[in-house]
Amino acid sequence: MVEPSPEVAAYAADILRSPAFAREKDAIQHGTTTVYDHSVAVANVCVRLAHALPLRMRMRPLVRAALLHDYFLYDWHDRSTARPHHATHHGRYARANAERDFGITRHEGDIIQSHMFPLEGFPASREAWLLALADKGISLAEALAGLRARMGVRRG
Ligand SMILES: [Fe+2]
Ligand SMILES: [Fe+2]
Repeated sequence: MVEPSPEVAAYAADILRSPAFAREKDAIQHGTTTVYDHSVAVANVCVRLAHALPLRMRMRPLVRAALLHDYFLYDWHDRSTARPHHATHHGRYARANAERDFGITRHEGDIIQSHMFPLEGFPASREAWLLALADKGISLAEALAGLRARMGVRRG
């Protein structure tokens, strides 16, 4: 399991200890990575990039939106339970669930909803751009790792 960095834990203790968020441990996102591990990895990377960039970032909304950006709460591989148009709509599904369960702010909701840019929404803040880019990088790495695992390729 991917562990949240201390800064991620500090801004999102309520999310990390909630049983609702823990449901993400049961769903696969890419390859063999769960939605939970994916989301924590994206939040950790967002924090690292935010500190590395010469830009002022609002850390609390960045961390909370990163953790909840895929909080759609279904298995998107299962057509019988997935909600329609997953690729182009799960940002708004995640936002609605996060508003209901964690009372996220409007800014946090906006960051979540545009993370699939250009498929859904348009990032309207630095935090939103950072999440959209970090998510794509992490997702690609997870998909490639899953592909390597299926092909039986060992890390050399
Ligand atoms: Fe997503
Ligand atoms: Fe994601």
